Order: sequence, then structure tokens, then C-alpha cells
Amino acid sequence: MDMEKVVSLCKRRGFLFQSSEIYGGLNGFWDYGPLGVELKRNVKEAWWRDMVTGHDELAAPPGAPRAYQMVGLDCTIIMHPQVWKCSGHYDLFHDFMVDCRESKKRYRHDQVQGRWVSAKGQRIFVASQTGGEEGLAETQHKALKFFNLRAKDAAELAWEGDLLNLTKIGEFAQVLGPDAKTLGTLTPPREFNLMFKTYVGALSGEEGAAFLRPETAQGIFVNFKNVCDSSRVSVPFGIAQTGKSFRNEITPRNFTFRSREFEQMEIEFFCHPQQSPEWYRYWRNRRYRWYTELGLAGERLRLRDHEQEELSHYSCGTADIEYAFPFLPPGEFGELEGIAHRGDFDLRSHMEGKLVRQGNELVVEKDAEGKPRHRGSGKDLSYFDDETRERFVPHVIEPSAGADRATLAFLCEAYHEDSVPDENGKPRERTLLKLHPRLAPIKAAVFPLVKKDGMPEVAQKIYRELKPHVTVFYDEKGAVGRRYARQDEVGTPFCITVDGQTLSDGTVTIRDRDTLKQWRVKAEDCVAEIKGKLLG
Ligand code: GAP
Repeated sequence: MDMEKVVSLCKRRGFLFQSSEIYGGLNGFWDYGPLGVELKRNVKEAWWRDMVTGHDELAAPPGAPRAYQMVGLDCTIIMHPQVWKCSGHYDLFHDFMVDCRESKKRYRHDQVQGRWVSAKGQRIFVASQTGGEEGLAETQHKALKFFNLRAKDAAELAWEGDLLNLTKIGEFAQVLGPDAKTLGTLTPPREFNLMFKTYVGALSGEEGAAFLRPETAQGIFVNFKNVCDSSRVSVPFGIAQTGKSFRNEITPRNFTFRSREFEQMEIEFFCHPQQSPEWYRYWRNRRYRWYTELGLAGERLRLRDHEQEELSHYSCGTADIEYAFPFLPPGEFGELEGIAHRGDFDLRSHMEGKLVRQGNELVVEKDAEGKPRHRGSGKDLSYFDDETRERFVPHVIEPSAGADRATLAFLCEAYHEDSVPDENGKPRERTLLKLHPRLAPIKAAVFPLVKKDGMPEVAQKIYRELKPHVTVFYDEKGAVGRRYARQDEVGTPFCITVDGQTLSDGTVTIRDRDTLKQWRVKAEDCVAEIKGKLLG
């Protein structure tokens, strides 16, 4: 799988464009084109349907401790600034950055790596933003340049160990920055808050300051009481939300994988504290299965449990669903979704104020005068169970996914090249997207074999019959082989062709994108046939 080919297909066929491209683009922002918007909508709709509207509330699904309810929410992007103070984002949602005084470039501290090397009596640390084999090649190239050596003199470079993260280097005086020619040009690491700041109304000072949400989750926590009071939900239940989130990433990269504006698909699942470990295991497995059901079934997908030291201070368990994106070095995986057991951290933070861990306890953080550092809402967000007559603060399990990362993973997984015989039996190279039919932007294409003999009229009738049910595309231009190729390239699972036989017996051919199998059905049965195939 070659990432450049996926990126090129995305641009060529209208899946993804760089934002504001005619002005040179804006780093970390992407636009979805006519086919991309359909694909991403299908990803989000599959998630919403499978998690919310299609969920059977009357029976416990396999692996779940019991039946549960699911409802949705759609909150604003800008919320009361206190939300982010109590959630911890205001104080803690930062990355460390280093600047290069020579190249004027900015790097995320933990995304720079390098290698110690000695030559001509000098020992330096050659830094690069690339990992794996490419990183090794880049550091070699830079070291040769720095020491003024030719490639044939590479043996004069005495390397020490493997690539090492810059976070492991205490002193930068001997560091050659990723884009620098001289040593010691990197500044010491500094904190950088990832939240985008904006101003509400006419107030431009701190009084009017607010933030674009960096996650959709907090909108759910602050509406917990509203949802409980207004709908007939009872614990255990989940609230789902999809929507835009914004993070001022220091180094957005790898296509849409790390963007500054992206969409999340999050669930906050509220349960009794005693049952929360069981619910955590259920959601961890349920969410992993969702990706496999939609086609990410191979070795490139994995479920990784966090080590104890990776866990946030409030979490009793976290697992990541990860995908081996083709832009990563072999053996490395990128996060698609995190499933976290968050205890009662979030609801308590919004009741009492920003919490910190003290020993085994979560307590309200105090300022120098002993007052809460960030005061909570003071509202009671506990839950009263009518059946058991018990009052408690529910624990939360949070499966938090990225719609753009999922879309990118489905695209990468679907990308295939093979060779198929053309109309004359000659092998022809083809590019195809083996997208799951639920995700494919176009479900069926309809072609008249030729633009005469009444074939377009029959084909257009089939097209109009299909239109109310599925996304369908009509094409009568060019050789039929080319029309098939164009549909294969964008992942259309079925092509329907009206040909000479249609005029005599009323049947049309249906062609399967992956198997190339063709079969005939009555023209009037096309809707039922395609709908049946799509439902599997
Ligand atoms: N509420 C928890 C939360 O937001 P997260 O791991 O920071 O957790 C959840 O984000 C998901 O959002 C990630 O697994 C990823 O799919 C997506 N995501 C996060 N940052 C992203 C970025 N800069 N660009 C694209 N997707 C991102």
C-alpha cells in the first residue's frame, strides 16, 4: 500500500482537497470533495445507526452485562469557558514545542528524533522529524553534509545506537535541528496550549475570551442532568455526539490524520461504579468489532491496552484501536479511537471544580488562598436509582473516535491494484477501492452499452427507480470498459449495464466490483436486487 497513490486518488477523484488550495492551502485543514463528503457521511451514519438509532434497547447485546439505552446530543462548539477550566483542558491540554532559531520552524518536542554520531573529533546529535528507515537515511545524509564528507566516506561516521527521541536529550548545544545547518539552534521546550482561542461578542479582552471545543465529550457531561431530566433514560445509558473539534496542533501532518479541524464521534456511557469494569470490557470489544465489520479486518488493525504508566491520572483502564497507516514506518500504528474508563472524574469536576489526584483520591485543586483553583458548577450531577433507592455519581466509559481518521483508514484499507481482462480479453491494470457497500459513496452505476437503440431510455428508467433508495450514478460516455474502471476506482460496488439482450428479453447485467462476476436480472428487479445485495 503506497500512501502517495491513495493521496493522489483522493485529489484526482474528488475525495479530499487541501483547504483554500488556490491561496496555497492552510496547513492542517482539509476539505472533502463530492465523493469524500459522501464517504465521510456514510462513516458517521454507520456509527450513529450502529451505536444509537439501530441499537436494540430491549435485550443485552453479546458481551454486555445487561440491556442499555442510547440517545444523542448536538452541542455548540463554543461553550462557557469554565467548562474547559474544570475539565482540565485550560491548564493541561498542551504539547511541548521547540523552535529553531535558524530555520524559524517549530516542532513538537516528542516528534523529533535523532542519533548521536562522531566524526573529525566532534560528537553531535543529528535530529530529524522522520522515523524508521527514512529517518536513518536522513540523519546519515545530514551528518555527511555537516562534517563535509562524501557518501563514499560514510564509514568515518561513528554512530551510537538507534534513533532516540529528543525528549531524552537534556542539552541542545550539540543538537543539529531537523532543518538547521549549525548546532544548538533549538530553543528549550515550551508549553503550548492546543485550544483555539476566540472572543464572544464585542468584548475583546479576557472577559470575552472563549475556546473552540477541542473535544465533543464535555458538551455531553455538562448536559448529563438535562438529558436525565428530559428523557426517560436510566443508568446504564449512553449519550452519543458527532461534531467538529479543533486543536491547534503544532505539527499537523500525515494527510488528515493530524488536522487542526476534525470531526469526532464520541460516546459517554454512564453506569454504576460497581459494573464499570464490565462495561469497559464490553465497549472495548464492541468498538473494535465495529471496525472489523466495516472492512478493517486484517493485520493492520489492532486493539492495544494501555500500560499502567500510560493511563491518565483518573483512568482505571484505556485501550486504543489502532491502524497501521501506510505513512507510518513498518510496525508502527496510529490511533483511530480510544476507549477509556474515566471513573467519576468528569461529572465530579463539573460539580465540584477541577480535580487533581492526591494519593488514591481525586480532590478539588486549591489555589494559594485555599480556594478551588477552578470552581465547578455547584449543580448536583449525581443519579438516583428508583429501583435500588441508591444515589451515586455514575462512572463513565468513553469510546472516542475520529471520523476523519476512520475515513482515512477505510480509504487506505480499500485501495487495491489488480489486473483484469478488457473487452478484448487483454489484461488491463486497474485501481479499485474495495469499500464496504455501506461506506461506498456511490452504491450503483447504470450504463447503456451504446448511446442508441433505446438503451439510454431503459438505463435512465432504472437510474430513476434506484434514485430514491440508493446513491446512483448514470454514465453513457466512452467505452464501457472505461466506465467500469472509473467506478471501480471510487469503490462503486455494482454496475448495471443495459445491452442488446435487454431489448429482446428485458434483462440487464449486474457486475460485482470485487469478483467481476456478472449476472442478469429483469430490469424491473434492479431495485430489489441492489437493495438485497447492499443489505448482504
Ligand atoms: N474525549 C477524549 C478525546 O478527545 P482523544 O484521544 O484526544 O480523546 C479522540 O481524541 C479521537 O479523536 C482520536 O482517537 C482521533 O481519532 C481523533 N483525533 C484527535 N486529535 C485529532 C487530530 N488532530 N486530527 C484528527 N483526528 C484527531
